[in-house]
Amino acid sequence: MSHGFEMQPMQARKSGPLTGRVRVPGDKSISHRAMILGLLTIGETHVTGLLEGEDVLRSAAAARALGADIQRVGPGEWRVNGMGIGTLLEPSETLDFGNAGTGSRLMMGVVGGHPIRATFDGDASLRKRPMGRILDPLRKMGVEVIEAAEGNRVPLTIQGARETIPITYETPVASAQIKSAILFCGLNAPGETIVIEAEASRDHTEKMLAYFGAEITSTPHGAHGRRITLKGQPELAPQPIAVPADPSSAAFPMVAALIVPGSDIVIESVMMNPLRIGLITTLREMGARIEELDRRIEGGEEVADLRVRHSLLKGVDVPAERAPSMIDEYPVLAVAAAFAEGETRMNGLQELRVKESDRLQAVADGLKANGVTHRIEGDDLIVDGLSRNIRGGGSVKTHMDHRIAMSFLVMGLAADRDVGVDDMSFIATSFPDFIPLMTRLGGQFA
Ligand code: S3P
Repeated sequence: MSHGFEMQPMQARKSGPLTGRVRVPGDKSISHRAMILGLLTIGETHVTGLLEGEDVLRSAAAARALGADIQRVGPGEWRVNGMGIGTLLEPSETLDFGNAGTGSRLMMGVVGGHPIRATFDGDASLRKRPMGRILDPLRKMGVEVIEAAEGNRVPLTIQGARETIPITYETPVASAQIKSAILFCGLNAPGETIVIEAEASRDHTEKMLAYFGAEITSTPHGAHGRRITLKGQPELAPQPIAVPADPSSAAFPMVAALIVPGSDIVIESVMMNPLRIGLITTLREMGARIEELDRRIEGGEEVADLRVRHSLLKGVDVPAERAPSMIDEYPVLAVAAAFAEGETRMNGLQELRVKESDRLQAVADGLKANGVTHRIEGDDLIVDGLSRNIRGGGSVKTHMDHRIAMSFLVMGLAADRDVGVDDMSFIATSFPDFIPLMTRLGGQFA
């Protein structure tokens, strides 16, 4: 056992056409931020559609430890009574973030902006992930790293700034997590905190801060980048948050419907934020039949019902600059690519190596186990599409990574032989109802 609990193996079986309408859970990025914004606002933040996955529950627990009063009032419906900026309590115990990179990194920024000390820890996967990318800018803002595991990893203890220093920071990689940690820290700094990114990453933090009343602007920077300027020490006012359905979770039934012959499904209310839908762009280039039935605004984000039908896909070249808008979707794109005709080249995947697992290697190993030829060249993954006849029969190691587990279970719905994963338990971090939802569509699991 790699994570101290019973591993839960699961097999997916070649299935008949997938049909029906489903709604996937709330967006994970927005759900984490809902807890944080609620914590940093005096008064009651009412949240609906919250993802009740383990990662988000860890953020809720951390927000409570920092002083928020948080109540679940119904399915997906939560009330957060926060502390406001500058008045967080020092937590008496370690903040344990489990598997959650986003929650832990964003909360380091929150804590860093306050004169309190906190210890961050997580599971064996989180303990491998780099935190130096967050600690570097936070140190410039006045944060002291009291101790950290080798290589700037958790468990680590930080002493937040006594007087937070506003900085201008150019992020070394396009990462919404780095950007957000700096902005959350900058909330308690006098003056302007500026983050410059060479490629635009997801903008939920900026949008939600603006919605809660912060003065924050975003202007273009270079060909694909942004310059974000936040005025510190705003008075945030509580606003209702309606969390839209997560496009990164929608990706799994979407690819499943594309590769299982005869499928025709509708995925309701999927968030269509342009910085999140690189997968849909890519799949359409591959020939996917994905139709937007009703594009509208919900909870401040564009959403659409997506009709997805089985499609004959062809291989494409995916440009590196698209990576930030589909960063979590490469594993399932690799599965779609296996069922396409011809080669799919995914360029610039270096960030995949530092996700919940080394996803580049985990995907490559999973493809190999199921008879799909591919190669890694530098940071690029090239998959030889076999157009439909995937042997399957492989047993895939998931390395405590929910998206590796879901991607290969999707493969198994269309491969000739069952595809097994060694552990599906981590699916609960982001998509607790994945198996029942896919079963309702007609997917077969054992
Ligand atoms: C996230 C940002 C992404 C993504 C993660 C969620 C966020 O990470 O992979 O699942 O909510 O800010 P990076 O910004 O580090 O690429």
